[in-house]
Amino acid sequence: MPEGRPARLAVLTVSDRASRGAYADRGGPAAEDWLRATITSPIEVQRRIVADGAESVSAALTDLADGWGADLILVTGGTGPAPRDRTPEGVAAVIDFDLPGFGEAMRAASLAEVPTAILSRQGAGVRGHSLIITLPGNPGAIATCLTAVFAAVPYGLDLIGAARVETDPARIRAFRPKPKPEPNP
Ligand code: MTE
Repeated sequence: MPEGRPARLAVLTVSDRASRGAYADRGGPAAEDWLRATITSPIEVQRRIVADGAESVSAALTDLADGWGADLILVTGGTGPAPRDRTPEGVAAVIDFDLPGFGEAMRAASLAEVPTAILSRQGAGVRGHSLIITLPGNPGAIATCLTAVFAAVPYGLDLIGAARVETDPARIRAFRPKPKPEPNP
């Protein structure tokens, strides 16, 4: 159990234009800022930008998960239905299993803000000891989606054998079910 070491958090921006410098990446910094404001335990953050497409996403995820040992990977962008939006396919190719509740909760929260949230294909999955969560590219949408799911993330990380993280309860009250009492001998 890798307890005691800083949690490794990766933020992967998926965008053709940001990856070639045609515009500044705003989603990656927004996701990193959100994590830094929310997580109170020690963390290391790595940010990367890749072009749209399933292959670029898969390659970056395997490197971050297996090579760097990321505990949590936030992927921003490429989750819509446009021809170059293939982030979900890139994630699906490398995860061991998906966690459908994340996409359901993120879409429910986003639909309360904007009807086009129904076009999103955000979700989450696990590769080894890494939890991967996909988010839209829009910075405001990133905060909405993370706020909708993050209470369950620390316990999810516990369950997959990733690093332990603590959150600022003023922002996110992490929920860890109480351990069952030991039966009397
Ligand atoms: N969720 C919120 N909260 N706010 C938004 O503006 N935009 C939607 C959706 N989710 C949006 C949102 C739109 S228009 C799309 S196409 C999808 O996210 C995917 O966004 P992406 O292609 O940047 O990943």
